[in-house]
Amino acid sequence: MAENQTFAEQHLPYVEEELVSFIEKHTTNEELKKSMLYSVNAGGKRIRPQLLLAVVASFHKTVGAGAYQTAAALEMVHTYSLIHDDLPAMDDDDLRRGKATNHKVFGEATAILAGDSLLTMAFQLVSMAQIESEPKLLLIQQFAQAAGGAGMVSGQAADMQAENKTITVEELAKIHEDKTGKLIEFALVAGGVLANQPVEVLEELRQLAGHLGLAFQIRDDLLDVTSTTEQLGKNTQRDAELNKSTYPGLLGLAEAKLALDEELVAAERTIDRIQQTVASFEARYLKELVKAFYLERGTK
Ligand code: IPE
Ligand code: IPE
Ligand code: MG
Ligand code: MG
Ligand code: MG
Repeated sequence: MAENQTFAEQHLPYVEEELVSFIEKHTTNEELKKSMLYSVNAGGKRIRPQLLLAVVASFHKTVGAGAYQTAAALEMVHTYSLIHDDLPAMDDDDLRRGKATNHKVFGEATAILAGDSLLTMAFQLVSMAQIESEPKLLLIQQFAQAAGGAGMVSGQAADMQAENKTITVEELAKIHEDKTGKLIEFALVAGGVLANQPVEVLEELRQLAGHLGLAFQIRDDLLDVTSTTEQLGKNTQRDAELNKSTYPGLLGLAEAKLALDEELVAAERTIDRIQQTVASFEARYLKELVKAFYLERGTK
């Protein structure tokens, strides 16, 4: 085990196992299965699963099967969102996670269907997860809300509509909070639900996720401008080519970096506040993730 691994990272092999075995067991069409596994196994950072596991651990709860299964389901929805995001009709990208995009390898029809299947399967997995019925129902409802027409998909629609347009920074923040923030929000809220936390605590986690989600997409916008294709595993300078609305595009690099820092400071403050107000919460699990993903490890 690498020494600089986060707590959540040490548990990731269990999430990987749930992810891959569920797809293998529940997909009947071989080409479709290959296509789903191709993108799932292409080497994502797994930040959303790690956030979910870290929140469960923060409340001193055992990180077990239910958490691994929910984390795997979340990664399915995230991976589907990327497969569709890369399609010619959307961002038209040919490189993802250091590999050719799904539609470049399997064709557009199979890529669309692999996304459809990952989305549907995620809910199948949560519905079959080793979680008590009541929290499970809440998880499914929160998950659908985060992923769908009031969440990630809505944000993706707004992102497409904001191409070739000048929008306000408030409008851009809303796009980012939806397209990227909502799945990150689900990661934190799901961790809280799995740790049996009351509504007030779930709301605190939602606030924290607001900062982490916005920060994540501002950082993604910045990296598109400042990184290399090799570092990111995806083609850079794409946002400018597509005339996307982004933080650096709207505010310039320096201001965009300031906006990122502001969100990260607010996130730290929120983590500290939760630690002060919730006796059973320990800050270090989330702090180490923020440090690792937003500050230390450049890009991958
Ligand atoms: C990329 O997400 C798309 C965004 C929402 C910014 P990640 O940066 O988490 O991508 P992977 O999963 O590591 O490939
Ligand atoms: C994607 O945002 C957000 C999703 C919901 C997939 P981007 O389009 O900026 O993500 P990348 O840069 O292609 O990974
Ligand atoms: Mg996009
Ligand atoms: Mg994209
Ligand atoms: Mg991007």
